[in-house]
Amino acid sequence: MKTLIIGTGYVGLVTGACFASLGHQVVCVDKDVRKIEMLQTGRMPIYELGLTELVQEQLAAGRLRFGLDASACPEAEIALIAVGTPPLPNGEANLAHVFAVVEQLGQTLPTGAVIGTKSTVPVGTAVRISEHLKGMGRGDLKVVSIPEFLREGSAIEDTLHPYRLVFGVQDGESATILERLHEGLQAPMVVCDTQTAEMIKYASNAFLATKISFINEIANICERVDADVSQVAHGMGLDPRIGSSFLKAGLGYGGSCFPKDTRALVSIAGHVDYDFELLRSVVAVNQRQRLEPVHRLREWFGSLAGIKVTLLGVTFKPGTDDIRESPAVDVAEALLDEGAQVQFYDPVAPVVGVQGAEFGVSHDVYESLLGADAAVLVTEWPELLELDWQRARLRMKQPFVFDGRNVLDPLVLQNAGYTFANIGHKSRTFAPMPM
Ligand code: UGA
Repeated sequence: MKTLIIGTGYVGLVTGACFASLGHQVVCVDKDVRKIEMLQTGRMPIYELGLTELVQEQLAAGRLRFGLDASACPEAEIALIAVGTPPLPNGEANLAHVFAVVEQLGQTLPTGAVIGTKSTVPVGTAVRISEHLKGMGRGDLKVVSIPEFLREGSAIEDTLHPYRLVFGVQDGESATILERLHEGLQAPMVVCDTQTAEMIKYASNAFLATKISFINEIANICERVDADVSQVAHGMGLDPRIGSSFLKAGLGYGGSCFPKDTRALVSIAGHVDYDFELLRSVVAVNQRQRLEPVHRLREWFGSLAGIKVTLLGVTFKPGTDDIRESPAVDVAEALLDEGAQVQFYDPVAPVVGVQGAEFGVSHDVYESLLGADAAVLVTEWPELLELDWQRARLRMKQPFVFDGRNVLDPLVLQNAGYTFANIGHKSRTFAPMPM
């Protein structure tokens, strides 16, 4: 099928490359000239596992092209909107970009084409888009909602092997077109109205975020009653009604999706006079949880003024270069506020912005630990799990490590002479082994 994708962020670019690999003729467009120039020569504006290879392969096969606006594919049978929906100050999604694209598509798409939203949009947006198009005299265009469920870091795998396909449609013909577009993917299909599809997306992210905040609260109680949250999560997760995923206690969720979508759903509920109390708490718990390392450092050092702290990991999770809503930024901000000095390690992120200033990020973990009084593991990059802690200790002024993701073995750290703490385990701070 001739497919147009508007927006070349994680969602648009991955979706475009994957649909091309399924045999469709795809044109991805973006108004950012720099991005398009890079993509046309096979270079990626984002870091995503396997994406460079997939895009280059599809470019070479002639199934994927790039352009600056919808006029690059006037013959499109389907156009997917994958532009940003950044949060407004009240938490609501800003739909300005989405409607600017709709306006453009209303002028360029051929009769009877389908417009689909891939961006996460408030419930009722597809209906609003239909009304807008009717107002433009384009009632012939069909509007659908096809939420995406891809994770950064495994975006291609998630797109080509989805857990489910959700098609929100307003008529039967659109459902058939969407089935054609997704031909070759093996997954259960949910065909529903557009509002339901839009809600499935928000409810899914809100539920996963709830699991994370839930286990983080359990972790905080575990510490106080001498229980072990990792074993609690394991014991809970063996029950298939609960499931083991998204039960890793840590510094909470970050990224461009969970923080934005949870706040947006609270706001969507508020608009229909419903107080989504549970989700409001999930958001508040997450905000509090990310500052846990600062409390621990304060407990240990007393004042943080003049203390040098290395944050190990800057991205919101491993496998991505995305720093949006990363706990690292909040931790750094709080430390700087208390007069500490902060230095950063990350294998991918080049710089990080904190309090309006840009900080350099070292790609050499041992160098990043030079002179540090404490290290906080913020992102569980695989390279951090293989660190030589004896060697690291020689670089540090004081051997204090806080593992914010519960991935380090306390015994290894203790044996290497560290004072060590993590989240949700017996004894809030492990003392070093006598040397
Ligand atoms: C998330 C969803 O998982 C995708 O299904 C969805 O499509 C996407 O949002 C979106 O709406 O676009 P993503 O933001 O890439 O994907 O990241 P996740 O892998 O889900 O992780 C989110 C955050 O939760 C990370 O900060 C991670 O560290 C944290 N997390 C995850 C935990 O703290 N504990 C866990 O057990 C799992």
